[in-house]
Amino acid sequence: MKSIAELDEIRKITLNQLSVRSNEKGIKVVVAMATCGIAAGARPVMNKFIEEINKRNLENVTVSITGCIGVCKMEPVVEILDKDDKKVTYVNMTPEKAERVVLEHIVNGNVCTDLTIGAQEGV
Ligand code: FES
Repeated sequence: MKSIAELDEIRKITLNQLSVRSNEKGIKVVVAMATCGIAAGARPVMNKFIEEINKRNLENVTVSITGCIGVCKMEPVVEILDKDDKKVTYVNMTPEKAERVVLEHIVNGNVCTDLTIGAQEGV
């Protein structure tokens, strides 16, 4: 069992990794972490977003988690909200797709249309 001090340190590190930076005008990455999302692999997807965002030193991007989004069969689901809160929903995510979304969508501003819920529903 971990001590209170160890748990507090883990909490600080985790909060830091989740980029708890105040960026009200930045891009928000929201990873669905209901049990279905976790079972489908949401955690490695979230970790990849954090890794890629930190690697590129993207200070205007935050990563957070949410619960049920309502589409279990399409988990892992990730929503990207731009500075105007315009939302793009990515489904059936993997760490590889997360890397692509960071590069193409977040860095270059081009939505990965083929990975969105709209494209996947038509399949
Ligand atoms: S329980 Fe799976 S999306 Fe809600």
